[in-house]
Amino acid sequence: MSDIDPILRPSGRRAVLIDGKAAAAQVDAAAREGALALARRLGRKPCLAVVLVGEDPASQVYVRNKIRRTEAAGMTSLEHRLPASESQDEVLALVARLNADAAVDGILVQLPLPDGLDATRVVQAIDPAKDVDGLTAASAGALVLGAPGLRPCTPSGCVYLARQALGELSGRHAVVIGRSILVGKPAALLFLQADCTVTLAHSRTRDLPALARQADILVAAAGRPGMVGADWIKPGATVIDVGINRVDGPDGATRLAGDVDYAAALDTAGYITPVPGGVGPMTIAMLLVNTLAAAARRAGLDLPEPAARMLTS
Ligand code: GUN
Repeated sequence: MSDIDPILRPSGRRAVLIDGKAAAAQVDAAAREGALALARRLGRKPCLAVVLVGEDPASQVYVRNKIRRTEAAGMTSLEHRLPASESQDEVLALVARLNADAAVDGILVQLPLPDGLDATRVVQAIDPAKDVDGLTAASAGALVLGAPGLRPCTPSGCVYLARQALGELSGRHAVVIGRSILVGKPAALLFLQADCTVTLAHSRTRDLPALARQADILVAAAGRPGMVGADWIKPGATVIDVGINRVDGPDGATRLAGDVDYAAALDTAGYITPVPGGVGPMTIAMLLVNTLAAAARRAGLDLPEPAARMLTS
């Protein structure tokens, strides 16, 4: 991780913003370089297949952005759109076809799936070698073991940004709020892998504000807008806000809000990620690097630098 520049902390009361957009642009650029190098070795571009079932508006935006950035990074992107009425068997059959397609390196099934489809069964059907979301049991097991494997993208982005702010993470106390399979649980394991002392807190945790105040690194991934107030933050702590909540703004329009009361946190935190423009852009950046890693590993090649350095563990 040596090429992640720690942000210089100026003396002053206001928190330093961690610019996720700029960090993601660096990772995207590394992915592009890696994609070009790998394409020369493979005789084809690395390829990500994205499966979108149904018409969820937020998922449509996410998938569009994933495809745009995959192609901008010099990789092939295959989009598979299925109606919300598609049967479980049809979705599983598509995953099986993508597993068997030698030209597909990564498979991402956009979540959530429509009612009536079993997301766990669908995700667990993905070949772990192509599991660029890091959500299969094999990938999760590898993370627990500290063995090589593909790591979930949003938690990897959190660790990347924390390293960018702080440099070495070893020995720091990371408190993760939220125990989702997509973010909270793997984030706790990734910070542990980075030699942090980790507390995984959730909605049933007693006296959450007091616990959060012990954190050197506070990761808010509860999905509750503005939950983390200034009095939850140790002065100078690094605050990583994973929340992307749509809330009513002034004049009847909606706006995006994180899980952290951002305005209040600015005078207490040392570093903080904004919403939008913090963790959000890092998710796709890490997806690109995972796709490269999958393409390289499937071909028995090393992931080229500088992309390899972008992986968090
Ligand atoms: N929906 C929201 N975030 C994600 C993600 O990281 N991966 C997938 N597959 N679906 C999501």
